[in-house]
Amino acid sequence: MFKIIKKEVLAPMIKLLEIKAPLVAGKAAAGQFVIIRTHELGERVPLTIADFDREKGIITCVFQEVGKTTRELGTMIPGDCITDFVGPLGLPSHIEKFGRVVCVGGGIGVAPVYPIARALKDAGNDVTGIVGARTKSFIFWEDKMRSACSELRVTTDDGTYARKGFVTDLLREVIEEKGDIALCLAIGPLPMMQAVCALTREYKLKTIVSLNSIMVDGTGMCGSCRVTVGGETKFACVDGPEFDGHEVDFAEMSRRSVIYKPQEKLSIERYDEAGARRPGCGCGGEK
Ligand SMILES: Cc1cc2nc3c(=O)[nH]c(=O)nc-3n(C[C@H](O)[C@H](O)[C@H](O)COP(=O)(O)OP(=O)(O)OC[C@H]3O[C@@H](n4cnc5c(N)ncnc54)[C@H](O)[C@@H]3O)c2cc1C
Ligand code: FES
Repeated sequence: MFKIIKKEVLAPMIKLLEIKAPLVAGKAAAGQFVIIRTHELGERVPLTIADFDREKGIITCVFQEVGKTTRELGTMIPGDCITDFVGPLGLPSHIEKFGRVVCVGGGIGVAPVYPIARALKDAGNDVTGIVGARTKSFIFWEDKMRSACSELRVTTDDGTYARKGFVTDLLREVIEEKGDIALCLAIGPLPMMQAVCALTREYKLKTIVSLNSIMVDGTGMCGSCRVTVGGETKFACVDGPEFDGHEVDFAEMSRRSVIYKPQEKLSIERYDEAGARRPGCGCGGEK
């Protein structure tokens, strides 16, 4: 059992949980993820390690409530326990001194970008951060990103905060201004990562994306996270989740990401019909 010790609402439908998981925290690195199960009968869902404190044994996850399990997780409160919390999974981000790098986070993607930007800055890189959201209320962790980057630029699609436009508008500006960028990292919704890759391809700027393909076991055995990268089949859980964005078959990924839509719809309907209850872990929050 893994005890929730802190909860914060960061934006509408976006929540943060700090979870006591000393073994996971002891080994966690930027770019990795965990697979959790809220209770015995729950489904397994992957969540990125958005932050970690090795000394306190704490992992921070930030999630968006998009369906049954993330909604259920969002009802849990400090003192509740998560039944399974497996990790760290996936390959850590490749961190070295590249020189000038740009880290782009769109929507919930800001959370996974944050520890990577911090690690890149700690490695001596000049890190320009770009964060974007649909509207002002969905901007979160601006302060954390500012501290993790040498410079931060913020945008909202509707112009309700900071610059009006998309992250790609700011990215083009940064590329044109700075010229000598060695690497771009982009994490966010699939269409955003695809748009970033289309732009950086024009400038021959190497771009890393983190793929949120559907995962079940997270250990390379079930094949559900299969993606095509550079014409080869890769498993995002063990070969990624980060890949060269210019090599990713985004069209195939988009098709595969919706294959369980009917089941997901049924699952949330049943959850709502049953009263959208908070899962009871049975440990009384004492463990
Ligand atoms: C490596 C990785 C890291 C992730 N990190 C985060 C994170 O930090 N924060 C966050 O909010 N989300 C993250 N996700 C996505 C998150 O796992 C899904 O939002 C979650 O599984 C949705 O489950 P649900 O029951 O709430 O919604 P559902 O209604 O079941 O699904 C909604 C959508 O979520 C996606 N999804 C569903 N099940 C899975 C699954 N088992 N694996 C992956 N995607 C799924 C599908 O695109 C689906 O259409 C990550 C995904 C991956 C692969
Ligand atoms: S999640 Fe099963 S192979 Fe990757």
